Amino acid sequence: MNIILLGPPGAGKGTQASLLEKDRGMVQLSTGDMLRAAVAARSETGLRAKAVMDAGGLVSDEIVTGILSERLDQPDVAKGFILDGYPRTAAQAESLDRLLAEKGMKLDHVIELVVDEEALVDRITGRFSCASCGEGYHDRYKQPKVEGVCDVCGSTAFKRRPDDNEETVRNRLVEYRAKTAPILPHFEATGLVRRVDGMAPMPEVTRAIEAILDGR
Ligand code: AP5
Ligand code: ZN
Repeated sequence: MNIILLGPPGAGKGTQASLLEKDRGMVQLSTGDMLRAAVAARSETGLRAKAVMDAGGLVSDEIVTGILSERLDQPDVAKGFILDGYPRTAAQAESLDRLLAEKGMKLDHVIELVVDEEALVDRITGRFSCASCGEGYHDRYKQPKVEGVCDVCGSTAFKRRPDDNEETVRNRLVEYRAKTAPILPHFEATGLVRRVDGMAPMPEVTRAIEAILDGR
């Protein structure tokens, strides 16, 4: 099964995608994670993307579609994928249709996480993750069970994303409204779109998504 999780920055796409990955063995395809890996590796793509990401802008369609296309060619994707953070522009939505057709893949569901914009800045500026295993946390909504110790791997080192400051988050929301929200009608036409209340507590959001995947 192949799905897209749509929604603004902070809607919970990454949180839910990583739960689906653990629970269902699907593969999370986050273009944000791919770009951050390129930045960390100091590759040419990473060097070009870093300044744009730090400012909250969108990296060029050509770069992002290129890295996604390569990732879709890896064999684990056959287990089923969750697209998280792609497509984000009309050009990317068209490229995705083309890539899937070329690679003989199809989408089963497009799930939009619907959230109040006022909650997003708070969600993103409070976010942190384990520096070792990547498990995501939040200062108020999801703290480690033992303070300062990762629930999953026991590491005591945590990190915050450089683009998770208030100014950059506001720019990311402007970009979302201008370039990503307008592509929703593209998906409406496919008849695959389902909406989930992304303001509900995390386990409820997970249950709503699983109900869609199970055809309930
Ligand atoms: P990317 O990494 O995709 O970031 P984003 O879309 O801004 O999404 P986030 O990771 O901020 O939010 P999320 O929805 O995953 O929320 P999360 O689950 O973490 O992109 C980063 C940058 O890369 C972009 O700005 C751009 O520059 C570039 N880029 C990436 N893809 C691109 C593309 N296709 N084209 C061009 N450029 C691209 O949740 C947030 C917090 O809220 C967490 O702390 C979590 O614990 C908490 N939370 C989650 N759910 C709930 C809940 N139900 N209740 C309470 N708290 C919750
Ligand atoms: Zn950890």
